[in-house]
Amino acid sequence: MKILVTGGCGFIGSAVVRLAVARGHQVVNVDALTYAGRLENVAEVAGNPLYRFEQADIRDRAAMERLFVAHAPDAVMHLAAESHVDRSIDGPGAFVGTNITGTYNMLEAARAHWLRSGRAEAFRFHHISTDEVYGSLGREGLFTEDTPYDPRSPYSASKAASDHLARAWFHTYGLPVVLTNCSNNYGPFHFPEKLIPKAILNALQGKTIPVYGQGENVRDWLYVEDHADALLLAVEKGVPGRSYNVGGYNERRNIDLVHAICDLLDVRRPRAQGRYRDFIAFVPDRPGHDARYAIDPARISRELGWKPSVTVEEGLEKTVNWYLANEGWWRPLLAVEGVGTRVGVV
Ligand SMILES: NC(=O)c1ccc[n+]([C@@H]2O[C@H](COP(=O)([O-])OP(=O)(O)OC[C@H]3O[C@@H](n4cnc5c(N)ncnc54)[C@H](O)[C@@H]3O)[C@@H](O)[C@H]2O)c1
Repeated sequence: MKILVTGGCGFIGSAVVRLAVARGHQVVNVDALTYAGRLENVAEVAGNPLYRFEQADIRDRAAMERLFVAHAPDAVMHLAAESHVDRSIDGPGAFVGTNITGTYNMLEAARAHWLRSGRAEAFRFHHISTDEVYGSLGREGLFTEDTPYDPRSPYSASKAASDHLARAWFHTYGLPVVLTNCSNNYGPFHFPEKLIPKAILNALQGKTIPVYGQGENVRDWLYVEDHADALLLAVEKGVPGRSYNVGGYNERRNIDLVHAICDLLDVRRPRAQGRYRDFIAFVPDRPGHDARYAIDPARISRELGWKPSVTVEEGLEKTVNWYLANEGWWRPLLAVEGVGTRVGVV
């Protein structure tokens, strides 16, 4: 299959690109290379004849039209987005521009291409989204595909809007759209502004590990390569108009996750004195911080046969080992604006 992947230089997109090429798919990676997009993330496939890179911005409708004409893909996997909640609090405009207008451009360019192809039945527009569109859970319950949308941050509101557009293009125009909503990912190439890499890298640098509030917020963690596997399954076998929640039943409180990371580092790279937990500091909470996310992945498991390959403990160990072995990747990113400082405080 020839797949046009947007955001393929980001954290999840690059995992999708690497896996798709490894499975023999042709990939056209369309990425604007924002602060979060790194060519190093796809260096492994850069010389592969199955792989092409196009630097382009999804907010540029004409550029998207040209790319569809030039490459005539069999499927689109749309991951390009502004993805960091804290940044969305400081600068929501970029999230509206890329996540909403950019998705609209992709849907329209894909629809024109699909019409040119004579409404090819096998064509898929796979819109990749997040569980954050469902809002926040209490102590009990899981998000299913029928949970009403209730986004609370500029990031999740912009993703919810893009999900609604994607569904509308299926119902109104018949574009074969598939949606997935996934829980929090972690793993190699995760940009150091996010909780897990930030905890690992601050610990390694002997810096404070900031934990919002009392660390009681619960997230449902999925190893990024398991997500990439689910996404390829959804684009190949997903039913048009249907959405699939992706998660691995791996709920953890933030504080427990940070403790686990510190304990792994104590074993892998012991400090001369003391433990890495000594660096943990509770800081004022994120405004509007959702209390708990938890995914019910029964549909994708039952209908598409997907299941995650690692537990959160196994995945965290792989992740910590990856950051220990790849300082050349993360060291330069520490200088990127907003990485070493607190953002998203109103
Ligand atoms: N990270 C998570 O835990 C998670 C969970 C569920 C869903 N998602 C969704 O998965 C997708 C990818 O997330 P991620 O964590 O890999 O994000 P990321 O921030 O690491 O990567 C985003 C990529 O999109 C590119 N991009 C941004 N704006 C663009 C534009 N205007 N035009 C073209 N390219 C642009 C960036 O250069 C970057 O390569 C997003 O749609 C996100 O909402 C993320």
